[in-house]
Amino acid sequence: MAYGLLKGKRGIISGALDENSIAWKVALKAKEEGATFTLTNAPIAMRMGAINELAKVCDAQIIPADATSVEDIEKLYTQSMDVLGGKVDFVLHSIGMSANIRKGKEYGDLNYDWYLKSLDVSSLSLHKFLQVAEKMDAINEWGSVVALSYIAAQRTYPFYTDMAEAKAMLESIARSFGYRYGKAKNVRVNTISQSPTKTTAGSGIGGFDAFYEFAEKMSPLGNATADDCANYTISLFSDLTRMVTMQNLFHDGGYSSTGISEELVQMIQNQNKA
Ligand code: NAI
Repeated sequence: MAYGLLKGKRGIISGALDENSIAWKVALKAKEEGATFTLTNAPIAMRMGAINELAKVCDAQIIPADATSVEDIEKLYTQSMDVLGGKVDFVLHSIGMSANIRKGKEYGDLNYDWYLKSLDVSSLSLHKFLQVAEKMDAINEWGSVVALSYIAAQRTYPFYTDMAEAKAMLESIARSFGYRYGKAKNVRVNTISQSPTKTTAGSGIGGFDAFYEFAEKMSPLGNATADDCANYTISLFSDLTRMVTMQNLFHDGGYSSTGISEELVQMIQNQNKA
């Protein structure tokens, strides 16, 4: 059901790779809620071509941009403002990549060039999105910027390796820039810390299926889906949350506040009996 929450709002949505992507679902909901927006992804991701389908459905223009390139991001804002007919009201940062994870490197054997790349792609890129926007004055007053994080920023998940630091940095940038941009233009910056979700980035992490199931059993509401995450993101882009900023918001069915669940206790007891 649509509520017209983003009626008249303009935005930029990054990170829609295929129909499983969280950003893909956000784009569909943003359209449903009345927004107009541009879609962006790394030029290399365009080769998959799926984003063209999404662009058609959403009546959105695609503007390729490597999130590590300030020049690309400048073009992204310039062209978006051109196409949309004015400054933007919301930006979704839905970008993450670790070559160390992709290549199965353990935390004690990380390749440091790749480590730096993980931080550049997954965290610094949020700073670049914000710094460029501020310099270009590309986001309207009371605009909202949302980036996606994971609880490995606060707690150790051995298989998450260098992405744990990347997410900790991402959340820190959201706080620091949120302060600055809030003072300057009332622009809000938040991160959503999402449940494990079956996407290309998610499933690439070692042991993903096991910790997906673990989180499912641990959370009183179960894991939050990509669709649920899209709904929450839309609420943060809307005026209903205009005083929320500099927060890391857990969107995880209660996982982050649960010590252990009855299901998991039961599983271990059954295992011990067997
Ligand atoms: P996804 O693989 O669909 O999206 C990741 C996106 O990052 C892709 O579209 C990819 O092309 C883009 N990207 C990678 N390098 C880029 C670059 N240099 N420039 C521009 N874009 C680039 O996977 P998903 O899960 O939708 O990921 C979106 C965000 O959600 C990521 O930040 C991820 O870490 C975060 N997240 C995912 C969770 C999961 O379990 N899937 C859980 C919590 C957070």
